[in-house]
Amino acid sequence: MSGAAKQAVRLVLLGAPASGKGTQGATLAAELGIPKISTGDMMRAARDAGTELGKLFDGIMSQGKLVPDDLVIRLVDERLAHADAQRGFILDGFPRTVPQAEALDQLLASRGASLNAAVDIATPRELLIERATLRRTDVRTGQIYHLKYNPPPDSAQLVHRDDDREETVRKRLDAYDAMTAALVPYYEGKGLLRHVDGVGSPSDVAQRIRRALAELTGASGLTAASTPEARGGANEG
Ligand code: AP5
Repeated sequence: MSGAAKQAVRLVLLGAPASGKGTQGATLAAELGIPKISTGDMMRAARDAGTELGKLFDGIMSQGKLVPDDLVIRLVDERLAHADAQRGFILDGFPRTVPQAEALDQLLASRGASLNAAVDIATPRELLIERATLRRTDVRTGQIYHLKYNPPPDSAQLVHRDDDREETVRKRLDAYDAMTAALVPYYEGKGLLRHVDGVGSPSDVAQRIRRALAELTGASGLTAASTPEARGGANEG
């Protein structure tokens, strides 16, 4: 990554469930040296910690529904106050509704900042279902695998998300269409959005995102795949 690319990147990754936001966000965050902030990961961490809020999140997530805006906004507000987020950030899974997007604009403005990019990873529905149902995550490292396209090593300690059962995935996709798709015109209207084809190997998709980000932020040097994750992964063909 060249020095020119190290300007603050404040990016929203949009895309339906299992479109690759977590995979791509992790790659890009490592390249840029900024945090990937995933509201889904934060909610699963609260669930695993057994907090009251975590139990509430779990009940909603396992039904494929969205957690109420005010709770999510509070989580993100607290996370953006951390020192690492002052250098920039990649938001994965937030915002998911127009009120969340408006709240994000306001809380960034109150800190004297604003978003400079939104990238929508577009992927056909049947492929999303296959990606979700065969996804596995290593509990120790958080690394995301796919049983067909990015098989885990024997040493991985794998978990299968409850909400990755096909019936729940379909509900999550419906929630995306009903609530989150409205963010496309929201960010288009602000001149912040690029659409990226989500079909292809993870490294192909990563390259498209780097190109989109370079266009939006004017940063140069966002073109080389520099991490093993960015280079890895099989093609869906
Ligand atoms: P969240 O955790 O945010 O889930 P999501 O948005 O549904 O997204 P996913 O994590 O399912 O997928 P992804 O796009 O990150 O794909 P990934 O890279 O893993 O949210 C879960 C729940 O929490 C929600 O349903 C809701 O209840 C709640 N929630 C969270 N945020 C909220 C908010 N803001 N407001 C309200 N509620 C909220 O990839 C998927 C699979 O495909 C993996 O196996 C991967 O290896 C594979 N893969 C990825 N890219 C490729 C490729 N190019 N080729 C082949 N395989 C690939």
